[in-house]
Amino acid sequence: MTGIRTYDYTNSLGTEHYAAALRVDIRDGLTRTPKSTAPTWFYDARGSELFEQITQLKEYPVCRAELGVLSLHARDIAVRTGARCLVELGSGSSTKTKLILEALGPAGLHYVPVDVSADALLQASAQLAQDYPQLILHAIRADFTAPLVLAELPDRGPRLFAFLGSTLGNFSRPARSPFLRELRSIMRPGDFLLIGADLVKTKREMVAAYDDSLGVTAAFNKNLLHVLNRELDADFEPDRFEHRAVWCSAEQHIEMRLRSRAEHRVAIRGLGLTVHFGRGEEWITERSAKFTTSGLQAELATAGLRTDQVWADVDTGFAVILAHVC
Ligand code: AVJ
Repeated sequence: MTGIRTYDYTNSLGTEHYAAALRVDIRDGLTRTPKSTAPTWFYDARGSELFEQITQLKEYPVCRAELGVLSLHARDIAVRTGARCLVELGSGSSTKTKLILEALGPAGLHYVPVDVSADALLQASAQLAQDYPQLILHAIRADFTAPLVLAELPDRGPRLFAFLGSTLGNFSRPARSPFLRELRSIMRPGDFLLIGADLVKTKREMVAAYDDSLGVTAAFNKNLLHVLNRELDADFEPDRFEHRAVWCSAEQHIEMRLRSRAEHRVAIRGLGLTVHFGRGEEWITERSAKFTTSGLQAELATAGLRTDQVWADVDTGFAVILAHVC
C-alpha cells in the first residue's frame, strides 16, 4: 500500500500461521478416506474474485436474496440494535455491509471486517475508507473459525456481529454448536448477532446453484488446485479432475467435489507427500449446509443467543435472523 493509511490493519493470520494451517489441513484431508479439505483455501485473490462472480450467477440467488432482505430491513436492524460497532465475520468485498453501515450512521461507527483473504480485506477497506471518511475502520485478517482470535475488539457498544452470506453453512451440524458458543463467549450482554442463512430448497435448485451453466463454480472449485500448486509446490493438473455438486439429503448439505477422471498420483513436494487418486475417486472440497428458520433459531438458543426477529424471503428461500445475548 502506498499513501496515507486511513484504516488499521491487523494480520493475526501471519504468513506462517496460514502456511502451517494449510499444511495440516491438506495433509490430514488428503490422507483420509474419503479425501476432504477445508473450503478456507479457495480464497486467494483469484478465488475471492471467482466467488464474487458466483454471487452474480442466475443459479446462485443467495447473495441477491440477502441483499434484498437487508435493503428492506436495514433501518429496522439499526433501530433495534443501536449498534456503534459492527464486527463482520467473512466480510469479503463488504458489499452488503454498506446497507447496514449507512443505516447505523457511519460517522464515528467502528467497523471491524474480519476475513481470511488479505486481498479482499485490503481492497474493501481502502474503498470503505474513501466512501466513508468518518468511519473508524479496523480490518483483521483472521481465520474466524476460531472466534477467540478476536478477543480484542473495540469496546464501543452495543456491538453488532454480522455473519452473512450463509457462511455458517460451511460448518457441519456438529461443529456449529461449539463455534456458536465460542462466538457467544466473545459477545457481551447487549451485543447482537445478525446471521444470514440459505434455506433448504429442492435438490434441483441446490445442485444448479453449485454447478452453474457457465462453469464459474467449477473454476472456483479447481482454483483450489492452483492454490495448492503454488503454496505447497504440488503438481495437480486441473484437467484431470471434474467438478461435481452433490446434495446430501440426510445431512442437509451440498458437497462440492473434485472427481479424479483417471487413476493417477500427485506429488505435493511442500509436504513430502505423494497422493494417490483412484479412477472416479471424489475429493470433498466444500460442504455447505442449508437451514430451516426454526432449526437455526434452536441452534442459536442452545448457544445462548435468543432470536429477536426473523426476516425471510420466501421466494428465494433466504432468512436473516437477529439475535441477542441472553
Ligand atoms: C461463501 C460459503 C456461503 O457455500 O454457498 C459458493 C461458497 N461455494 N459456491 C456457499 C460457495 C460454491 C458459499 N459460502
